[in-house]
Amino acid sequence: MLATLLLLSLSLPTLWTQILISCAYKSLCQQALLSGNDVVLQCDHPKALWYYSSILEEEPLLVSSMPNIKKLPGGSLQLTNPQPSQTGLYHCQDNESALVVDYELDFQDVTTLHITHKGLGQKPLQNETLKLGTSVLIFTQWEPWQDCNRCEKPGERKRLGYCYIEEPLEKPMPCWLYLRVEKVKDSRMRPEMQVEACLVPCDHFKEINQPYFIFDIYQLGKLTNIWLTCPLASIYR
Ligand SMILES: *[C@@H]1O[C@H](CO)[C@@H](O)[C@H](O)[C@H]1NC(C)=O
Ligand SMILES: *[C@@H]1O[C@H](CO)[C@@H](O)[C@H](O)[C@H]1NC(C)=O
Repeated sequence: MLATLLLLSLSLPTLWTQILISCAYKSLCQQALLSGNDVVLQCDHPKALWYYSSILEEEPLLVSSMPNIKKLPGGSLQLTNPQPSQTGLYHCQDNESALVVDYELDFQDVTTLHITHKGLGQKPLQNETLKLGTSVLIFTQWEPWQDCNRCEKPGERKRLGYCYIEEPLEKPMPCWLYLRVEKVKDSRMRPEMQVEACLVPCDHFKEINQPYFIFDIYQLGKLTNIWLTCPLASIYR
C-alpha cells in the first residue's frame, strides 16, 4: 500500500504541484504575492531569456545570476523562497530579443502577515488614508476564498489579501510597486490572511486528484519539538 502511494506521488509531473503565475502573450501583468512561498512564472518559449530589474531602477540583470531562481526547460521561471527584496520587473524575451511576457511582482513580507479568524470575531485591517503629496488610500485587496480543507464535515478555508494603494481616480496598485524608491513605514502596510468555517459536500473527483507525498513515518509522542514540513503544500491553495 505504502509503495503504491509513493509511486503514484512521484509520477505526478512536478509542475502540476507548483503555483503557476501566467499572463497573456506580450502583456505586462502586475501582481502581489507573498514572500517565502514558491511560484513559477510562465513563459512558453524554449529559448527564453529572463531579466530582472528591481524597483530601485537598477540596470536589468540576467536572472541566472540569482541563486534562488531557476529557469525550467520549457522557458518558465521557478522562484524558490522569494524575498520582499526581489520585488520588481521580471521580463521574458525570446532569442530575437522580442518581448514574450512581463511580470511586475510585489513580494509582500509574509513575516508581517495579519491573520484573523471570522469565527472568533477577529477583524481584518481597516482602510487607512496616507498623506504622500496627495492623499492615498491603503486597503486590502482580497483574493477569492480557497477550497474548504474538509468535506461533509465542518472544516476551514482561507483567503489571502494584499496591501494595495489607490490614488483618487487611479487604478489601485500593490503597495511596494506604488511606492517604488519612496521609503514609507506604516503598520497598515501588510498582507493579510482570513480564515472562516465551512461545510461543503464531497466532490469525489477532486478528492482523489490531490497531490500528496509520503516520505517517512514517526510515532508521535516519542518526539518533542517536532516541525512538520509539507513539501507540496502552498499558502496559495
Ligand atoms: C531563434 O529561434 C528560432 C527557432 O526556435 C530560429 O528559427 C531563429 O533562427 C532563432 N533566431 C536567432 C537570432 O538565433
Ligand atoms: C476600502 O477601500 C476599498 C478600495 O477603495 C473599497 O473597495 C472597500 O469597500 C473599502 N472598505 C471599507 C470598509 O470602507
